[in-house]
Amino acid sequence: RGTGPADDLTPLAVPAARAAGCPFDPAPGVERARREEPVTRATLWDGSTCWLVTRHEDVRAVLGDPRFSAEAARPGFPFLTAGGRVLATSKPTFIRQDDPEHARLRRMLTADFMVKKVEAMRPEVQRLADDLLDRMTAGRDAADLVAEFALPLPSLVICLLLGVPYDDHAFFQERSRLLLSLRSTPEEVRTAQDDLHHYLCGLAEAKRREPDDGIVSRLVARGELDDEEVSSMGRLLLIAGHETTANMTALSTLALLRNPAQLERLRAEPSLIKGAVEELLRYLTIVHNGLPRVATEDVTLGGRTIRAGEGVLCTLNSANRDEDVFPGGDALDVGRDARRHVAFGFGVHQCLGQPLARVELQIAVETLLRRLPGLRLDIPFEDVPFRHDMGIYGVHALPVAW
Ligand code: HEM
Repeated sequence: RGTGPADDLTPLAVPAARAAGCPFDPAPGVERARREEPVTRATLWDGSTCWLVTRHEDVRAVLGDPRFSAEAARPGFPFLTAGGRVLATSKPTFIRQDDPEHARLRRMLTADFMVKKVEAMRPEVQRLADDLLDRMTAGRDAADLVAEFALPLPSLVICLLLGVPYDDHAFFQERSRLLLSLRSTPEEVRTAQDDLHHYLCGLAEAKRREPDDGIVSRLVARGELDDEEVSSMGRLLLIAGHETTANMTALSTLALLRNPAQLERLRAEPSLIKGAVEELLRYLTIVHNGLPRVATEDVTLGGRTIRAGEGVLCTLNSANRDEDVFPGGDALDVGRDARRHVAFGFGVHQCLGQPLARVELQIAVETLLRRLPGLRLDIPFEDVPFRHDMGIYGVHALPVAW
């Protein structure tokens, strides 16, 4: 392994492609880097380069170190696409800001996503999951699990929390898709961003006239934020709140169907569900293209010197397969203690919504397995439309039968 400057490294083009036939595994190039050259170079869409950090220990070191900034406007910040640059820079939210501004805004939401608060929502989430499955299965024995269960469940929950009318779901789901697609042009991203922005500004204004107990209304009522800022926070929560859990639900179902012994074990021992969800989060790591940061000082990591102003991508999916932390990590094992996974990130930006995501996923997976004992894939595995083209990995659709 080399040391010092990066001259001896051959950059890996990112996002790197997964191997055909291994849709649950990180791209072979990223896996190879973790084993052979864990802090390496990557080439981005515009020909610029950044660092790729692939090991569990190093990923946590970067994400936990204030010398690495999450502020997308800083020179050297790495973007995966031209559209991604527009998304991160045109109307920044606190996920792409540093402390103290990040902490000030995040603090306004922490009470809403505390474990205790979210655990109290279990009966409501269970009721929604049961209603959706009642509707999906009524008089039928096949359906698209994404459209009828995995996507509506977290969408309904985040709408309830924010005070966003669920009737508008087609509007915001379509905009979210455009924002998260690696194929969207900068113009498409800008338009989708503007659409959502105007929608949420309008909502903030409506809540000022007619308050309710949703998050948007309470942010407005604090009087510390203008409608633009409320809109940015609402947009972040709306997108993060449904795209992620939806894809984890569908991909988890598929991964269990592909690993029948694990599925049977979980069915036989439902008390494993909490640990199984952590293992699925680790194994599938749907935020799959690397969390972006930029160094604000020179930092030595894995024998390499990352210079101030150089970008870094922390690949969570390779960190979650790191054999030093998760022996036999390429296998799904619902009995594993996977709690050290970094699927929710690490450090000050670690996922705010993780208690909610956990409750939703535990309920979604447990309810599906319990209520549909004959659940099976309804198309050949090779035909499953994986989301290689999206910032959040998963499946575009999942035709199942029961
Ligand atoms: C941040 C993953 C569900 C809201 C993050 C980050 C990751 C992540 C990796 C860190 C980003 C970074 O450091 O650059 C996930 C996964 C989810 C999930 C895998 C589901 C399985 C949710 C839900 C919400 C949410 C349900 C709720 C509303 C947020 C917010 C941030 C965030 C607001 C920004 C936190 C900050 O910058 O301080 N998420 N997330 N996420 N997530 Fe999630």
